[in-house]
Amino acid sequence: MQFLRKYDMVNNAKESFKQNNLRSINLVEHKNVLVTGGAGFIGSWLVDELVNRGNNVVSVDDLSGGFQSYVNEKSKFIKVDLRDNQKVSKIFEEEKFDTVFHLAAYAAEGQSIFSPIEINDINITPMNNLLVASVNNDVQKFVFTSSMAVYGNQQPPFNEDMPTMPEDPYGCGKAYCESMLKIFSHTYNFDYVILRPHNVYGPRQNLSDPFRNVLGIWINRIMKEKEPYIFGDGAQERAFSYIADLAPAIARAGFESKANGQIINVGSKEVTTINEACQVVLKAMGSKLKPIYLDKRPGEVKYAYCTVEKSEKILNYKTATTLSEGIKMMVKWAKKVGPQEPTYRLPLEITKKAPQVWKEKLV
Ligand SMILES: NC(=O)c1ccc[n+]([C@@H]2O[C@H](COP(=O)([O-])OP(=O)(O)OC[C@H]3O[C@@H](n4cnc5c(N)ncnc54)[C@H](O)[C@@H]3O)[C@@H](O)[C@H]2O)c1
Repeated sequence: MQFLRKYDMVNNAKESFKQNNLRSINLVEHKNVLVTGGAGFIGSWLVDELVNRGNNVVSVDDLSGGFQSYVNEKSKFIKVDLRDNQKVSKIFEEEKFDTVFHLAAYAAEGQSIFSPIEINDINITPMNNLLVASVNNDVQKFVFTSSMAVYGNQQPPFNEDMPTMPEDPYGCGKAYCESMLKIFSHTYNFDYVILRPHNVYGPRQNLSDPFRNVLGIWINRIMKEKEPYIFGDGAQERAFSYIADLAPAIARAGFESKANGQIINVGSKEVTTINEACQVVLKAMGSKLKPIYLDKRPGEVKYAYCTVEKSEKILNYKTATTLSEGIKMMVKWAKKVGPQEPTYRLPLEITKKAPQVWKEKLV
């Protein structure tokens, strides 16, 4: 009995060693990889992950929302506005990419209904330029970071078989890019993966952006002893996803053949209300401030979270970090960075129905 147990243990260990090796053989890396938005929050974590896996990584970014200091020194950094198709083509001709991860965007979903001209230009034009350059330079695989925003106001949890029904220009832009990618992949025979992350947070999030990522906005305000704002009653539900859980899964999408031609949700399974999330942040910051409740934002979807079984199965994604653990790590990082002055990057092209705190730049 004793022997059998030992024998089983040895065999189990051998089997798991074999599986791990098979897994790494399955992931053929050491590729020439492009990461757009590589100086941004998710992009810079992804670049670290890809560099650590032994790939040659080029990061491109116009630094409109990212920071060059976040870019891994073992990757090559090129500053470029991806709306410039001549420059994009030149980079592709020179660098000969195997795989492209496209993350560059301005993901100001709430603002997008008030600034559709600029936001569509930023989020759509680069996709067209990157697809043309990818086809002309024989890119083998294109991974697009879309968003849960494409599901709109459907009944959550959103699964990948649901139709796209965006409720705002940001979601429309993502749906457009997804369609373009599928069409180009079918026509010109390259592999693609569409990832739909939801509510990502963690260190390196741009704390100066008053329009994006509620946790970062609250942390930045609380650091200045200002009350956090909540639009509506705070009963909105989200599943906040810690970046360190997400980055390996995004990287894996580039090299896992089972992901090819797939749409995959990726992010946390821990659903929380905005009120609860705000309390988690206040507690982690040791603050006694109380949130200020503002009118509901036009177009904000009340309940938004996704099924993630597909990413667990195909990309080995795991919700390993709870919101309170993740927030503690983010707060520790934010305190080192210190409070940031808000940067209002784009004008409100429409002010009708826009929240007063945005019109008066009070966030
Ligand atoms: N953070 C989230 O919760 C979340 C959720 C779902 C999807 N996404 C998507 O993930 C991607 C990355 O998001 P993030 O949170 O890291 O945002 P981010 O703003 O930190 O990163 C985006 C980067 O793109 C760069 N960029 C923007 N426009 C550019 C242009 N024209 N040319 C070159 N670079 C440009 C910015 O400077 C920035 O560094 C985006 O596509 C976003 O839509 C994010």
